[in-house]
Amino acid sequence: MKTAITEMFGIRHPIIQGGMHYVGFAELASAVSNAGGLGIITGLTQKTPELLAKEIARCRDMTDKPFGVNLTFLPAFTAPPYPEYIRAIVEGGVKIVETAGRSPEPYLPALKAAGIKIIHKCTSVRHSLKAERIGCDAVSVDGFECGGHPGEDDVPNMILLPRAADELKIPFVASGGMADARSLVAALALGADGMNMGTRFIATKEAPVHENIKKAIVAASELDTRLIMRALRNTERVLKNKGVEEIVQIEREKGATLTIDDIRERVGGLYPRIMIEGDVDAGAWSCGMVAGLVYDIPTVAELIERIMAEAERLIRDRLVGFLEDRVAPAMKVA
Ligand SMILES: Cc1cc2nc3c(=O)[nH]c(=O)nc-3n(C[C@H](O)[C@H](O)[C@H](O)COP(=O)(O)O)c2cc1C
Repeated sequence: MKTAITEMFGIRHPIIQGGMHYVGFAELASAVSNAGGLGIITGLTQKTPELLAKEIARCRDMTDKPFGVNLTFLPAFTAPPYPEYIRAIVEGGVKIVETAGRSPEPYLPALKAAGIKIIHKCTSVRHSLKAERIGCDAVSVDGFECGGHPGEDDVPNMILLPRAADELKIPFVASGGMADARSLVAALALGADGMNMGTRFIATKEAPVHENIKKAIVAASELDTRLIMRALRNTERVLKNKGVEEIVQIEREKGATLTIDDIRERVGGLYPRIMIEGDVDAGAWSCGMVAGLVYDIPTVAELIERIMAEAERLIRDRLVGFLEDRVAPAMKVA
C-alpha cells in the first residue's frame, strides 16, 4: 500500500509505532521497522543524551530500515537538555523525529538542518495547522480515545480526522484507538494517510515490557481507562487500577484546588516499576480505550501482516462489494 506517509518516510506499510515511555526501546522500534512500519525510540526514556545515542546505535544494529525517535515536550518536573538530545539524534543519523507536547518550533531549525523529517503529534486541528505553519512535514492527529495525553478538547477521531483532512495540506496519520485493519481502512477513508498505534503495540511479543502489562491490556475492555490530571490541564488517559483509583479519589476530594504535589508520587517515576517489574497496580500508566480491541499478543510482524492482509480484504471484498451490490457481513478480527 502506497500513501503520502509511506513515501515520505520510505516505509512499506502506513503504520507507525508512537513513542511510548519505557516501551519504545530498540527491541520494539526495530521490530516494527523490520516488519515494514515505522518504529520509534522514545528519546526521554533514555536518561541522558549519551544513553539515547547508544540506544540509537543498538537499534541500527537490529534493523537496516528507517526508524525514528520521539521527543516529548511535556511540562516536565525538570526540563531535559533538549539540544543535546537533538545532537544525539542528528549524530546517530536518524532521519525521522516524532515530536509531541508543546510546540517543537524552537528545535525545528536544528532538526531541519540535518535533513530530518518531523511528524508532530497534535490533539486538535488548530495545533495541527500550527505544526504545518511552522514547517513540520506531517502530523499525527491524536483523538480523545488515545492512550497518553489527549489534550483538553475531547474530540474523538470520528470528527477530528475529517476536520484535519478538511484543513491540512501536509499528510497526517490517525492516532488513538487504532488497532486493526478496520482502524486503518477507516482512517484512510476519513482522510488520513496511515495510522499510529501505541497501546496495540505494547501487547506484542517484542515489546520489552513485563508480561503482566501485556496481559492487563488483553484483559481490559474499552471501559477500563480513566482520565487523570484534568484539573491540572495535563489530562492523561491511563488504565484503571488500584493506584489510579487512589488518584481519582484524591482528585475528587481536592477538586479545582488539586496541585501536582497531591499526586506526584502516583504519576511520576513509576514507569520502570510498572513496565519492567510488572507492578500493574503501582500507579498511572498510559493506555488507550483501544485496549478493548486487543485480544492477543502476536509478534509485531504477525500483527502488521495481519493488518495489511485484512485491510486489503476489507477494501476489495466488503467495500468494493457494496458498489457491486454484494451485501457483505461485518468483518470480525477476533
Ligand atoms: C504506555 C504509553 C506511553 C506513552 N508515552 C508517550 C511518550 O512518552 N511520548 C509521546 O509522545 N506519546 C506517548 N504515548 C502516546 C503514544 O505515542 C500514542 O500517541 C498513543 O498511544 C495512541 O493512542 P492508542 O494508545 O489508542 O494507540 C504513550 C502511550 C502509551 C500507551
